[in-house]
Amino acid sequence: MKLYEFTKSYQIFEEAQKYIPNGIYGPRTPAFLTFGSYPAFLQKGDGCRVWDVDGNEYIDYMCSFGTNLLGLRHPKIDAAARKQWDNADCFTLPSDQWLPLAKKIVGTINGVDWCVFGKNGSDVTSYAITLARVFTGKNDILLARGTYHGSHFWCQPHGQGVPEEWKTHIKYFDYNSVDDLKKVVAENSGTIAGIMVAPHRHDAMRDQELPKKEFVDAVNSLAKKEGALVIVDDIRCGFRLKLEGSALHYGWDADIQTFGKAIANGYPISVAAARAELMESAKKIFFTGTHYFSGVPFAAAMATIDEIQASGAIEKIDTLGTRLMKGMEKAAAENGVKVTLSGPPAMPYMTFADDPNLGTNRFFCGEASRRGIFFHPHHNWFVCAAMTEKDIDKTLEISAECFKITREKIGG
Ligand SMILES: Cc1ncc(COP(=O)(O)O)c(C=O)c1O
Repeated sequence: MKLYEFTKSYQIFEEAQKYIPNGIYGPRTPAFLTFGSYPAFLQKGDGCRVWDVDGNEYIDYMCSFGTNLLGLRHPKIDAAARKQWDNADCFTLPSDQWLPLAKKIVGTINGVDWCVFGKNGSDVTSYAITLARVFTGKNDILLARGTYHGSHFWCQPHGQGVPEEWKTHIKYFDYNSVDDLKKVVAENSGTIAGIMVAPHRHDAMRDQELPKKEFVDAVNSLAKKEGALVIVDDIRCGFRLKLEGSALHYGWDADIQTFGKAIANGYPISVAAARAELMESAKKIFFTGTHYFSGVPFAAAMATIDEIQASGAIEKIDTLGTRLMKGMEKAAAENGVKVTLSGPPAMPYMTFADDPNLGTNRFFCGEASRRGIFFHPHHNWFVCAAMTEKDIDKTLEISAECFKITREKIGG
């Protein structure tokens, strides 16, 4: 098999450094992948496949970091979006899609009575903590150490120019540790507005962990005892595990739930949804953005929710993801490599044994990329409903070859 080359990608990346800080900023830079073994720019996509600017084709297990649940260029979603395009997208007032989508969210997600709309996930995680503060009259927000909730000042993991004061009221506990949670709650008792959790632990650069039942129970009961709110950040898992929300899937007693990514199959919209008791507090919050009101993503979101339900997409990605996870385990074992596949099948991640800095993972994923499989060495993957068993089997065949090369490289 001829290995992919990325000449054009890296020429553009090089030139982009002159015009754009770091050429590409944020985690989509090839520096967060295996530099030199991945493309830097994509040109087109269809279903579960993408093509880079050098013309190389990939089965894409990143799905735009989770937006692509039904497949790129999905005919029903794009038709719904196009219908709204024909009436224009962004105009002075909200479109007539505003109320229907709010009703659909409330009718679909378990335990919510109303919602607001933003663009990115960060918009609505910030909204959620603001709402918790207004409702409770308290300021502290408890987060799990290492969980990503967005790029806004209060939650971004690193980056210069953010005064420490922005994080003054953010306190951290260890995910899945009831003892640590209890300790942090006790230390801040009386000032806690909310506890924000990811539905399960999906931090970058480590195996995923499902939430332990005793941990879920502890968050639910401690929050209640403290008069604090439970905020479930469902931006990454939302619509992948259960249509009614991952809070229901795992048993979180959520007061506020946030969604983004897959909700409109790639069209830009995010949602914070909450219980009826919070509505009066919500009326006091200043929340807006020029593009928050544009109609096309609303139309796409409604079509996406309908199509996920009608097509059984959640069951499909679970089945395909299970085939992928089991197949990867088998292919690794057959080639003498020890791996751990973690997380739910709809969004698995893989690590290698004895690979604390993920160097082996970068090598493996880089080799897969050069053969047309787009995994990520540092971040959980995503399965999409446009994949077929044939795609998974092709992935496994190429992965077996990459495991063999990896084994030769690491020895043992
Ligand atoms: C769990 C979670 N919350 C919030 C965000 C932030 O979303 P966005 O990048 O759309 O602002 C992300 C993005 O990856 C996420 O995974």
